Amino acid sequence: MDFAGRVLAWFDRHGRRDLPWQRDPSPYRVWVSEIMLQQTQVSTVIPYFERFMARFPTIGDLADAEVDEVMALWSGLGYYARGRNLHRSARLVRDDCGGRFPLTLAEVQALPGVGRSTAGAILSLAAGQRQPILDGNVKRVLSRHRAIAGWPGQTQVLARLWGLAEALTPVRRPGDYNQAMMDLGAILCTRTRPGCERCPVANDCLALAEGRIDAYPGRRPRQVLPRRVIQFLLLRNQRGEWLLERRPPAGIWGGLWSLPECGEDEEPDEWCRTRLGYPVRLVEKLHPRRHSFSHFELEMRPVRLAPVGQLALVAEGDNPAWYRYTTLMDLGLPAPILRLLRDMGDEDLEGIGPSSELSI
Ligand code: ADE
Repeated sequence: MDFAGRVLAWFDRHGRRDLPWQRDPSPYRVWVSEIMLQQTQVSTVIPYFERFMARFPTIGDLADAEVDEVMALWSGLGYYARGRNLHRSARLVRDDCGGRFPLTLAEVQALPGVGRSTAGAILSLAAGQRQPILDGNVKRVLSRHRAIAGWPGQTQVLARLWGLAEALTPVRRPGDYNQAMMDLGAILCTRTRPGCERCPVANDCLALAEGRIDAYPGRRPRQVLPRRVIQFLLLRNQRGEWLLERRPPAGIWGGLWSLPECGEDEEPDEWCRTRLGYPVRLVEKLHPRRHSFSHFELEMRPVRLAPVGQLALVAEGDNPAWYRYTTLMDLGLPAPILRLLRDMGDEDLEGIGPSSELSI
């Protein structure tokens, strides 16, 4: 059986056929449901859809309503531009299309908030037109089945997927086929742990044959983030306690305790002597570690220092302060700093109480 035939046979046994917008699937009802489903899952949409249809049974009712009332019914669904676009579209249809929902791809796609895939879904599900769709679920199914590499956000990858979607959409039952593809993506061909053993098109799925389901669809290329280099000072006093500094309230790790840090061009031992007043010597520069933030990548360069003679202890509440390794968990250190200290293989020196008792 061809691809669509197998997908449809699966749909007849396992697909979703009792969703509210599937009863009396008029273009208006399907349009509203598809807009609601654009960013929201089915179970959340259902009660909103029912309330919306009870209040606005026709597109004319929606067009004649005030936008505030539409938005009140949208309240809680999120992505509120969708609600405003729906209302604007209803008025466009009322004023420019004689109140009848348009039934050509170009006209439907011209409505605010309707892209090519949503237009295809409306026209196939509600009007039986042979129009392909390519939402997130369908992209996943197709890119796996044909092992289409690359991120679908890339123009060439997207064009290949659209070409495939177009070629595979059957003349018979295009609406059921599109619903089936969305269901297949949502139920079996899931992002993680797909149910390939139950999939109707597993036998010629190239990603499955390669054993590389996870590789498709390709992920968005990682942005190259600006890099910041910071040296982190690892210094223990004569009692084995770490020197920590509380970060200023603004910026990364704001307000958290962390290791003292200096810039990449500074000499850490010199910095420690002049800025903190601790006579230290440099022991070794350790392998750098990387940590990604949303807007930059931090290259952490740990530097081990050792005291020269006795280091002054500090009073409780001071900044910087000395902390025993075993108390670090309670401080809420940034995870990369905690990992670094853990990897230092630290043990507290035996039999010594918290530094505050002995502070000077
Ligand atoms: N997501 C978007 N459109 C959908 C539909 N018609 N059925 C289920 N999930 C969807």
